[in-house]
Amino acid sequence: MKNIKEEIRRMCREKNAVIMAHYYTDGEIQDMADFVGDSLALAQKAATTDADIIVMCGVHFMGETSKILCPDKKVLVPDLEATCSLAESCPADKFAEFVAQHPGHTVISYVNTTAATKAVTDIVVTSSNAREIVESLPQDTPIIFGPDRNLGGYINSITGRNMLLWDGACHVHEKFSVEKIIELKKQYPDAKVLVHPECKGTVVKLADKVGSTAALLKYSINDSSDTFIVATESGILHEMQKACPEKTFIPAPPSDSTCACNECSYMKLVTMQKLYDCLKNEAPEIHVDAEVAEKAIVSINRMLEISEKLGL
Ligand code: 13P
Ligand code: SF4
Repeated sequence: MKNIKEEIRRMCREKNAVIMAHYYTDGEIQDMADFVGDSLALAQKAATTDADIIVMCGVHFMGETSKILCPDKKVLVPDLEATCSLAESCPADKFAEFVAQHPGHTVISYVNTTAATKAVTDIVVTSSNAREIVESLPQDTPIIFGPDRNLGGYINSITGRNMLLWDGACHVHEKFSVEKIIELKKQYPDAKVLVHPECKGTVVKLADKVGSTAALLKYSINDSSDTFIVATESGILHEMQKACPEKTFIPAPPSDSTCACNECSYMKLVTMQKLYDCLKNEAPEIHVDAEVAEKAIVSINRMLEISEKLGL
């Protein structure tokens, strides 16, 4: 085979395909993509692309969101097994039961959910817009927030709300060690600590900046510090280092291993070979049940509309 990267580019041109990648995929996948972003930016980009094929290098729910927004396009993912522990922690039938037990609540779901869970949701949010979307609702609105108890708890703490939280979590973000971050801070006293809101509250408390992957990236570019301790999936360090080659980025370590960084095993299932194969075979393809898609698009569009109105 000729150079695999050249072949991928050639197939993209021939098939009018666009490659999108999340910041948590391997650096070489991010470098191969036409567009790299956080969950919100990927959904916004998918909604407006004029490509015939979207190759979503990320996890399954990102492919589903693209398919729901672009039902006439072919949406491919390099590996169908790339799921998400948060999405899996919130099965749609159980979530629907929870919603039914609490009538009168507005249901807000993190984008890290299956299409079926989005179908029993009023408004989808991402970590880039969760605070603003919650604040756009009257203060006394009863809200159910799922599935991430950490993101929900963080939003409760900064907005003074008392949202009812689903008990889910991300296995990657839950693992960061408070002790190891404090230890790193002793070694690098001038370093700024960047934390994703999917982390536990005890880790969030150590943060100089809490935000989505895109917000943390932006902060690291604009802040004058030259060292950053980064408590989110370590794939983001690739874009940070690319944007700021002169700065030092230290991945915050997880508590339960001797590894220096914390990786999402699902995101890392996306490889160059699988990207090549999926473009060549135009498979695996994402399909979403029509009835589910019809309901889920309402909650996704509400997110996109509010985000647009708020300039997010
Ligand atoms: P963002 O892309 O919104 O930062 O979310 C991180 C994440 O866990 C994606 O799965
Ligand atoms: Fe899901 Fe966590 Fe991986 Fe993000 S990092 S895709 S929330 S398992």
